[in-house]
Amino acid sequence: MTETNFKTLKIEKLTGAMGAMISGVNLSENISDEQFTEIRDALFTYGAIGFRNQNLSFGEHSRFAKRFGSLEVHPIVNGMDEHPEIIKMHKPAGTAASFGVGWHTDNSFFEKPSLGSILYAEIIPPVGGDTLFANQQLAYQHLSEGLKETLEGLVAIHSAQDAYTSPSALEKYDGDGPISYKKSEIVTQSVEHPVIIQHPVTGKKALYVNSMFTSHFKGWSVEESQPLIEYLCAHATRIDFQCRFRWEKGMVAMWDNRIVQHAALNDYEQYERLIYRITVNGDTLKSS
Ligand code: SIN
Repeated sequence: MTETNFKTLKIEKLTGAMGAMISGVNLSENISDEQFTEIRDALFTYGAIGFRNQNLSFGEHSRFAKRFGSLEVHPIVNGMDEHPEIIKMHKPAGTAASFGVGWHTDNSFFEKPSLGSILYAEIIPPVGGDTLFANQQLAYQHLSEGLKETLEGLVAIHSAQDAYTSPSALEKYDGDGPISYKKSEIVTQSVEHPVIIQHPVTGKKALYVNSMFTSHFKGWSVEESQPLIEYLCAHATRIDFQCRFRWEKGMVAMWDNRIVQHAALNDYEQYERLIYRITVNGDTLKSS
C-alpha cells in the first residue's frame, strides 16, 4: 500500500518514519465500506493516523471504533458510567499527567493485547501534552541479522504488576479522581508473547517489547533479561523511528498497537487536558 492507492482520503505524512494526518472524511457519519477500508489500510501503513476538525458524540466515537472490532472494557481502568468502553482521560489544571506517560504498548499484559486505540480530543492545553509514537517495524528492520536471529526464538513475559502498583497508580484505586482504577486479578498475572511478532494482515515483522510491561524473557532470569530488554526498549524508541502528534480540539487519533509504541508527555502541569479513549480488542500475537 502506498499513498497513491488511496482514492477517498488525502494523506499528509508526518515523518519519514511513520504517522499521517488524514483529511476527506467525516467520522461522525456512518462511513462507507470503501472509506473504512482505506482508513484501515492507512492505519496499517502509517501506524498512527490523525483526523483534524472532527465532532464526535460518544455514540459516534463508539460506532467508528466498532468498525475495527469489539470494544474493550478495561479490567482495571474505569470507563464512563454510561459508556464503560470509553475512558475519560482527564487531567485537571495544576496536576501532573500520570496516565500513559512513558513508552508502552497498550495492554501487552493481556493474553490478546489490544488492536489499537481511538482517541478524541475535547480540551487541549495551549502547549504541551503531545503524544509520541515509535514504529516497531522499523525498529525490527534496523536490528542486526545476528540479533534478529536470536530474538526470533525468544518469548517475553509481560505483566501489569509494576505499572499498576506504582505510587501514582495506587492513588487511583477506588479513588474519586478524574481517572480511577478498580482492583483486578489481572495485575498479578503474567502472559507470554513472542519478541518478534508478525502483523496479522500485512505479515510484516515488528519488535514487541516495552519498558512498561515486559518483565523478562521466558527461561531467563529477570537479571539476565534486563540488559537486553533495556537495549531493545532504547532501540525501539529511537528518534528516527518516531512521529509526534500535536493535539487540537476535535482531533481524532488512532494507532495500531501491534506496530507502534506510544508515550503521552507530562509537560503541561498548569493546563487542563481531556481526551476520550476507546480501545479495540485484539487477538493472540503470532511470531513468524
Ligand atoms: C494512552 O492512551 O496511553 C495515553 C495517550 C495520551 O494521553 O496521549
